[in-house]
Amino acid sequence: MKMTKTKGLTLIAIMAIGVFMVWRATSPRPGAADQIVDVTVPELSAQASHGQKLFAESCAACHGANGGGTDQGPPLIHGIYEPNHHGDQAFLIAAMQGARAHHWQFGNMPPVEGITPRQVQDIVAYVREVQKANGIF
Ligand code: HEC
Repeated sequence: MKMTKTKGLTLIAIMAIGVFMVWRATSPRPGAADQIVDVTVPELSAQASHGQKLFAESCAACHGANGGGTDQGPPLIHGIYEPNHHGDQAFLIAAMQGARAHHWQFGNMPPVEGITPRQVQDIVAYVREVQKANGIF
């Protein structure tokens, strides 16, 4: 069979689409459950272990039991949330006022009802200790 120029180009296009689809299927999509991070929890200070309880009550539904993320929200044990990029103030604002979706595709974070700044401090202590144990600082 003689290969015409059009046939050759069509073949290349089909192959390019194939490569693209394999790349799409294998690359992580922000917002999908495959963002979930395997988290090691270290031995915690008293403040952080209080924060761990508060985190479990108020944050874990979206951010995962140990801050590793769920299909409802991103992992906080993640380079994006290291202290230099998201300082403690960012946690306070997110908890009190919510956060607009900007890093991920989970949608907005609603304000956490009934949480106090004091409680957020303890939660931050917990998140920072876990971050540190997982190489994020
Ligand atoms: C209903 C789900 C939900 C709950 C509950 C929740 N979050 Fe979030 N949170 C999100 C989502 C979704 C984002 C990601 C927004 C984005 O795309 O950047 C987020 C983002 C954040 C951020 C980053 C904010 C920023 O400035 O980028 C912090 C910090 C945070 N959450 C802390 C907390 C803490 C602490 C709690 C518990 C007190 C909590 N979240 C409870 C869904 C939730």
